[in-house]
Amino acid sequence: MLVSAKEMLQKAKAGHYAVGQFNINNLEWTKAILQTAQENNSPVILGVSEGAGKYMCGYKTIVGMVNGMIEEMNITVPVALHLDHGSFEHCYKCIDAGFSSVMFDGSHYAIDENVEKTKKLVADCAAKGISLEAEVGAIGGEEDGVIGKGECADPNECKMIADLGIDFLAAGIGNIHGKYPENWEGLSFETLDAIQQLTGDMPLVLHGGTGIPADMIKKAISLGVAKINVNTECQLAFSAATRKYIEEGKDLQGKGFDPRKVLAPGVEAIKATVKEKMELFGSINKA
Ligand code: 13P
Repeated sequence: MLVSAKEMLQKAKAGHYAVGQFNINNLEWTKAILQTAQENNSPVILGVSEGAGKYMCGYKTIVGMVNGMIEEMNITVPVALHLDHGSFEHCYKCIDAGFSSVMFDGSHYAIDENVEKTKKLVADCAAKGISLEAEVGAIGGEEDGVIGKGECADPNECKMIADLGIDFLAAGIGNIHGKYPENWEGLSFETLDAIQQLTGDMPLVLHGGTGIPADMIKKAISLGVAKINVNTECQLAFSAATRKYIEEGKDLQGKGFDPRKVLAPGVEAIKATVKEKMELFGSINKA
């Protein structure tokens, strides 16, 4: 059964580790992530962007697939199904479809409008036991065609949003989605520290987990980050493994063209990436 991400992230914050949100794109992705979480006794959050939602034939299809896998694969670790960077409208679509968690990305609205919309979602999510993530300060890079630069959130605005009763907060601290450029200045721990001081026990979310060096990840966790989002890194691992299979001509040998064989190395590569992240984030054996 899907669970809200609230409790798992409160436990993570108190225990000084982070739970990974791994974005899904299809059946193979979802299966690989669920298997890895179960094998490592780790809680996990499956992230779905609006674009990936559309690709996978809509939120109801995804809920059916994930619930089916949890039952058929005997997944017993806590699993949350979470809308990533949702618009106000899509948060409601996911709530209706059976997601257990949503992120409302109101970071592009003026703070007053972000507050107003977040408040409504707080009430509606609480009534259904669904966890809610909100965002302050746009996170840089490109996601679903939207490009922003790595901003730092205003800690006072973070407090204002945190106090509305959300369950966890994403705040820009110089992080970017996708690969980090050569001249990236790194995370702003000063901003993160200021945010945590004002928001107290609120679990903080670090987006753009791909390519952040291990020492920065550990420091971010020590300053209150309890959820880390990883997407691009699984995509890179999947495509490199698939490329190797094709370039080695394996699809031309015997029944190597069987899609279950073609996709198998990519699935193993996703599993290895997810396991490595779970080790780094400290979520293994925390289910
Ligand atoms: P990356 O693609 O950089 O790992 O970021 C993922 C993310 O933050 C999803 O919200």
